[in-house]
Amino acid sequence: MESKIYVHGGKILSGEVTVDGSKNSALACLAAASLSEDAITLTNVPRTMDIDVMVQILQDAGKKVKFLDENTVTVHGCIQNTVLQSELASKIRASAYCLGLFLATNEKAQISLPGGDKIGDRPLDIHLECMEDLGVEYEIKSGAIHAERKESITEEVVFLRYPSVGATCNLLILASKINRKIILKNVSKEPEIVDLANLLSAMGVSISGAGSDSITIKGTEQLKGGIAYEIMPDRIESGIIMTAVAITGGACKINNCIPTHNLALIRTYKKSGVEVIQGGEDSLYIDGKSTYKPINAIAMPYPGMPTDLQPLLAVYAQRCEGESVIKDSVFPERFSYVNELRKMGANIVRRGNMIQIIGNKLLSGAPLKGSDIRATTALVCAGLIAKDDTIISGMYHINRGYPNLCGMLQKLGADIVVK
Ligand code: UD1
Repeated sequence: MESKIYVHGGKILSGEVTVDGSKNSALACLAAASLSEDAITLTNVPRTMDIDVMVQILQDAGKKVKFLDENTVTVHGCIQNTVLQSELASKIRASAYCLGLFLATNEKAQISLPGGDKIGDRPLDIHLECMEDLGVEYEIKSGAIHAERKESITEEVVFLRYPSVGATCNLLILASKINRKIILKNVSKEPEIVDLANLLSAMGVSISGAGSDSITIKGTEQLKGGIAYEIMPDRIESGIIMTAVAITGGACKINNCIPTHNLALIRTYKKSGVEVIQGGEDSLYIDGKSTYKPINAIAMPYPGMPTDLQPLLAVYAQRCEGESVIKDSVFPERFSYVNELRKMGANIVRRGNMIQIIGNKLLSGAPLKGSDIRATTALVCAGLIAKDDTIISGMYHINRGYPNLCGMLQKLGADIVVK
């Protein structure tokens, strides 16, 4: 039987923690590292279940992927099998990066449609229509994309209808092996894209503009190996720790956290009353209060508020005196956690992709069900400010997303038991 998370609320979190490497960046970088047949070493890789699935996917494709220690992975060898079966593909969204990877290294690919968090509609149409511009022909049948790369690139300037994170990663991975200048327009500006671009650049790809809405890339047939690359810190994990500490009125130093990656969250919390002090380039100090001013936040592509923190903001809003408004423009259906929070007595009204929360009410513990990585995280945090015990099922989601989130919260003084 799956373990449950038991949270006994009311503890004030304080101390110091070090944030893990970014899961989402590591997923893309593992696929990118596989473009070279020579060894690439990735450090600061968070050992989560999603990462293990990606490792297995690459091993099935023929790559030799090995953890040298808890956070260091080497990748080498060639891609021999370009058929990705549904059993693995359906476990993570990032399995879609195999489309770019397999078509970069081989002529044909067959990729079962990806899975991942159930946070709303997640088509691959932007990935596919942009790949068509890069000479990919495809057909979807029996749950899989059957794709083939022709020599005929039709567009030198590829325009993304929406700055999709996944489509940007997939296109960068594919274009890295195309020896022609390609300009990608309206791309995602997320820090994870910059991280991926930095790795590709270290592997010999000519790439500029990452972090802006236009990236120019010229790939090469022979990507370099023999390099080590450090994955950026997980900005979502730092946002979660900031939230957990702030709602309990605690104080904490957060290491391995790049404040400029979390500006939207920091500004929102500062305006609401949390003291946030930047401690150099890679640490933050958080000092919480017992109550805050209400927040008004919209999840949108970077540098806006990350949608992955949207459920956490709803928990933060419980601590605010008055009405907070939170909107999600990236995943308009990402509110599965709202009903669970209502079971704790939260006063939340949902209208489409927006929720209104009347805060400053003590939540009461309840049995809850987490339905995706961030929703389950939000419920764990809600448990921290509830009287009585909160019992959360969904440990599977926590294990998918973080190497040791419950341990980190315990270290800060939270009363959490997983059993
Ligand atoms: C990635 C992250 C996820 C995060 C999200 C937004 C990984 C593994 N996952 O997901 O944690 O919540 O970015 O920051 O890195 N869309 C289309 N067509 C497409 C692609 C996307 O319509 O072809 C839409 C989606 O339905 C969604 C929006 O674009 O509404 C954002 O999706 P996208 O940026 O692609 O997110 P993911 O890469 O799936």
